[in-house]
Amino acid sequence: TDRMDSLSRPELFDFHGVSLTHYFTDNWDNIQNFQARPDDILIATYPKAGSTWVSYILDLLYFDQTSPECQKSVPIYASVPILEVTFPSLQPGTDMVDNLLTSPRLIKTHLPVQFVPKSFWEQKCRIVYVARNGKDSVVSFFHFERMTMIFPEPGDWSSYLQRFMEGKMVFGSYDHVNNWWEKKQTYSNLHYMFYEDLVEDTGREIDKLCCFLGLSPSAQEKERLAGRVQFYNMKQDNVVNHSTFQGMDFKLSSFMRKGKVGDWKNHFTVAQSEEFDEDYKKKMKNPTLTFRNEI
Ligand code: A3P
Repeated sequence: TDRMDSLSRPELFDFHGVSLTHYFTDNWDNIQNFQARPDDILIATYPKAGSTWVSYILDLLYFDQTSPECQKSVPIYASVPILEVTFPSLQPGTDMVDNLLTSPRLIKTHLPVQFVPKSFWEQKCRIVYVARNGKDSVVSFFHFERMTMIFPEPGDWSSYLQRFMEGKMVFGSYDHVNNWWEKKQTYSNLHYMFYEDLVEDTGREIDKLCCFLGLSPSAQEKERLAGRVQFYNMKQDNVVNHSTFQGMDFKLSSFMRKGKVGDWKNHFTVAQSEEFDEDYKKKMKNPTLTFRNEI
């Protein structure tokens, strides 16, 4: 807690039209000039859409050593670095990526599509984008910001929800999912997937991922992987549960919090839900991108 008390919550500010905090802009030149390699794989999401889940699936698909003595202990935020971070107790994300010895390198980002360093496009890197329905995203984000001292103070739920609708969130508005969806129409090396589908049938989504990545694990390996990445197993797994991450207060919430589709119903009032739906209809005009708020 001493450590947490010394961290001050950052202010949100407008950065080229997107709300961000300094933790994601301090290293901007190095981020924009980042040199991707052709075999790099970028995992991109709006915050709280399941990026850790998909990062772990990819990490295990590529680098899992089946013998128990090779059990990994490096936390996921080091083995799949977030490109744009400059957090107090970690190296800048670009340095963490440059120091990765693996091939392919797995790189995570929450950047809106227009901010992705251009070398990813030039090198035609494979990109996995994960999207989650807006209502569950904002609930998950709210609890995450409550416990994570290097994010802005979320305030109370109803003002937080208003702020989400105004797009004043870290990494900007939920339009993120739309802009990435549109990118997919012109950039073929992008696999767009949904959190709700992963919850519904993890095995099926792993199959699709393998198909996109050109991997062919055995049925047994896939089954083992699907078990390993189930919510309750990940919650207990120190590689991914962020138990060693500086600046999270686990008395307030958990990083692996609920892992459900539809938890928004425990937070939204009927009026809030209606207002959200109205606002959503006005903003999310692309009829080809649809989400499930429940499964
Ligand atoms: P909740 O807060 O709704 O529980 P990210 O990793 O992008 O920050 O996303 C975090 C969300 O993904 C959290 O949602 C977290 O619980 C959920 N999540 C992580 N691993 C999961 C898993 N194996 N199954 C279901 N949900 C998972």
